[in-house]
Amino acid sequence: MDIQDIDDVTTRALTELAAAEDQTALEALRVKYIGRNGLLPELMQGLKAVPPADKPAMGQALNRFKVGVTAAVAERKTALAAVAQTAKAGAFDLSLPGRWPRRGRVHPITQLIDKTTEIFRRMGFTVADGPDIETEYYNFDALNTPADHVSRDLADTFYLPGGMLLRTQTSAVQARYMECHPPPVRIVCPGRCYRRDTTDATHSANFHQIEGLYVDEKVSLADLKSDLDHFARELMGPGVKSRFRTHFFPFTEPSVEVDFSCHMCGGKGCRVCKHSGWIEIMGAGMVDPNVFELAGYDPEAVTGYAFGMGIERLAMILFGIDDIRRLYENDARYLAQF
Ligand code: DAH
Repeated sequence: MDIQDIDDVTTRALTELAAAEDQTALEALRVKYIGRNGLLPELMQGLKAVPPADKPAMGQALNRFKVGVTAAVAERKTALAAVAQTAKAGAFDLSLPGRWPRRGRVHPITQLIDKTTEIFRRMGFTVADGPDIETEYYNFDALNTPADHVSRDLADTFYLPGGMLLRTQTSAVQARYMECHPPPVRIVCPGRCYRRDTTDATHSANFHQIEGLYVDEKVSLADLKSDLDHFARELMGPGVKSRFRTHFFPFTEPSVEVDFSCHMCGGKGCRVCKHSGWIEIMGAGMVDPNVFELAGYDPEAVTGYAFGMGIERLAMILFGIDDIRRLYENDARYLAQF
């Protein structure tokens, strides 16, 4: 070995020591380089054979090796001890369980929209949509609603500048749809509606409805009855029936209110149906000929039925929710149960 070789070995030893991963690896390197049977004693032994003239320089090189390696061992030892100390103090505990993101659920209102549209889809209906900001024409006039009808009152409807309003009913989609689709028509239209209602347990100024419209040759009240009976069974359970009570809506003639027999007591009477055996579900009827005419349909050629129901009401009945406000507070702990 010459001086250059010794300096090379020194460099390599220092690199290895700096990279020692733990105390065991460090100790092995210490033994290998400066231990009693290591490289240093072996090189010292070799110094005897070096010619006297070269001895001082060789001795200095060996000393650089000894001092450098000894210092590097000590330095690395301190660094490794510090790392171990930090881990012990719990600065980074690998055994802790991770933080799981909470899994969300479909909101009850969305669940009901999905479920009702799915039932009607299987009956051949498609889903149609309309704007929340409507014209007075589509929300009222096209639906045969006279200018002095109570529902047009400022106290009931949110009017916007420029003759617009926030639609009070999804029925507005009926007229829009018929205007640009010739019969036959079979649609359901879910969406938001707005009324100037003071909020309480059963009212909200913003709520959801789903509208239905079926127009073809010879559609009758019997079709409405049988289709709603089917819907009642699909939505609420096999034993549930529908019943009609006469009513008035400007856009249907005849008009009915539709009740479903109580899914909880089977019609015997319980708290859910207020001991009547029946639950009011929706308004419906046969489309008024005036509505057809305004939409450009020939009332002599086609007939049709229409219905509209409140989604929140359905959700409250099916899930036993006692206050409509619960549906908008969006307390995930409450909603997670549905
Ligand atoms: N639009 C009515 C309401 O909001 C509900 C309704 C009744 C819709 C009869 C209809 C219908 O399509 O034929 O109270």
